[in-house]
Amino acid sequence: MSETSPAAVVILAAGEGKRMKSGTPKVLHRLSGRSLLGHAVAASAELDPKRLVIVVGHMKEQVSAEAAAVAPEAAVVVQDRQLGTGHAVRMVIEAVGVMSGTVVVTYGDMPLLRGETLRELTGRHVAAGNAVTVLTARGDFPGFGRVVRDADGAFLRIVEERDATPAELAIDEFNSGCYAFDGALLSDAVKRVTTDNSQHEEYLTDVVEILRGDGHSVGTVLATEAAEIKGVNDRVELARARRALNDRILEYWMRAGVTIVDPASTWIDATVTIGQDAEIGPQTQLEGGTVIGAGAKVGPGCLLTDTTVGEDAVLLHVVARQATIGDRVTAGPFAYLRPEARIEADAHIGAYVEFKKATVGPGAKVPHLTYVGDANIGAGANIGAGTIFANYDGVHKHHTTVGEHAFIGSNTVLAAPVTIGDGAYTAAGSAITEDVPPGDLGIARGRQHNSDGWVLRNREQTRSADAAKRSRSDDSQDGSQVDSQ
Ligand code: UD1
Ligand code: CA
Repeated sequence: MSETSPAAVVILAAGEGKRMKSGTPKVLHRLSGRSLLGHAVAASAELDPKRLVIVVGHMKEQVSAEAAAVAPEAAVVVQDRQLGTGHAVRMVIEAVGVMSGTVVVTYGDMPLLRGETLRELTGRHVAAGNAVTVLTARGDFPGFGRVVRDADGAFLRIVEERDATPAELAIDEFNSGCYAFDGALLSDAVKRVTTDNSQHEEYLTDVVEILRGDGHSVGTVLATEAAEIKGVNDRVELARARRALNDRILEYWMRAGVTIVDPASTWIDATVTIGQDAEIGPQTQLEGGTVIGAGAKVGPGCLLTDTTVGEDAVLLHVVARQATIGDRVTAGPFAYLRPEARIEADAHIGAYVEFKKATVGPGAKVPHLTYVGDANIGAGANIGAGTIFANYDGVHKHHTTVGEHAFIGSNTVLAAPVTIGDGAYTAAGSAITEDVPPGDLGIARGRQHNSDGWVLRNREQTRSADAAKRSRSDDSQDGSQVDSQ
């Protein structure tokens, strides 16, 4: 905890968010890999506060569960009825007591607000010794409170849009709803807020006016980027915020040395990490705890969730979840990796291949049309086209082991549990139900028998029969032995 860390950050998240028209509480809607609440928590964490308080109300069970998930250290305060932002803060003080030092109040639905901006706000608040410092922005923010100043530009008060005069409505400086307070002064002033306004709510904005009226100093800080103070109230604003956050994330990675071929069709969660000189192709989405190694080429067309990709790997049209892909692996087009798929260094997995709970050893190849479930494939093994690791007997899942440098013939079914030894082969088209020892060839299929002239006898006057006849007479002119009809 640094010397400048505030006593507390309070995140207001009790509101209903009616305009989302959703069965999910507003602050649980997701963008860029976090819930709205998760973004507020992540920004607050950058202040390193001594305590974090989250106010919940509407659908409090779900919101509390998310709070516990994203901020297990936070105190959750319930505001049963949403009687205003001032009331919410009063509930916090009643629940946790007076917090002396700096108390930052922010919202659970402002995902673009940066930790950096909160640091600027608290830093300037402390340096100026203010009772309260208000984060504001210039621009056009319909519905927001206006910052009213006197003729000399000194702060007077915040007026809500619905309580504003036409002259006040013309003001272009807006209240973000985020503030740094002196905790002791806040505790006292919040009790003096009335409901004497058009909504009959306890407005937190009134605290600012009360503190100024008491003769304390009030300051403002303009947000670095006006858009930071935009809240999310409906799904249109959610989509806009997602786009804005994504642009910010892509810009960050491009400046860190990552090539992003088509920013318009690339989506990267805030929680993803990417190494230098990686190249992210169009139509690619990187989610959750995904980590991309330096120099890897991912995309076009990849969707990776909680997946690790090694250095210089090349992935084309790969869908992966909770998978690990080693250095220099080449994968796709159209590879599907499910949880616990592990493709080790220099391996190749190709087109239309699916993996689940399976390890592909270093340098092994699974090039075409294959399902690998519950298996270990040894280093350097080659799995022929159309191989199926039949792992499920209808009741239980079973494991298959393929040894190092083994060679599985095309269209083999490996009926688990079964082990193919190191350097063993299976013949194409085999249904392997028993172990094949190292160095053996496993053959498990019917031996071929050709019924001589069957088509000529049974499919007379068809094109097949005519073609066969022509071929047979050509062959007999060549001197080969062919029986006549
Ligand atoms: C508030 C500000 C306004 C500012 C705007 C910025 C007040 C009176 N007005 O207006 O000046 O420009 O935010 O978005 O503060 N909440 C609770 N409990 C409540 C009421 C609200 O937790 O009883 C939470 C909401 O969940 C939301 C936030 O506080 O996250 C803001 O509430 P909202 O009703 O959207 O405030 P506005 O009226 O928009
Ligand atoms: Ca709002």
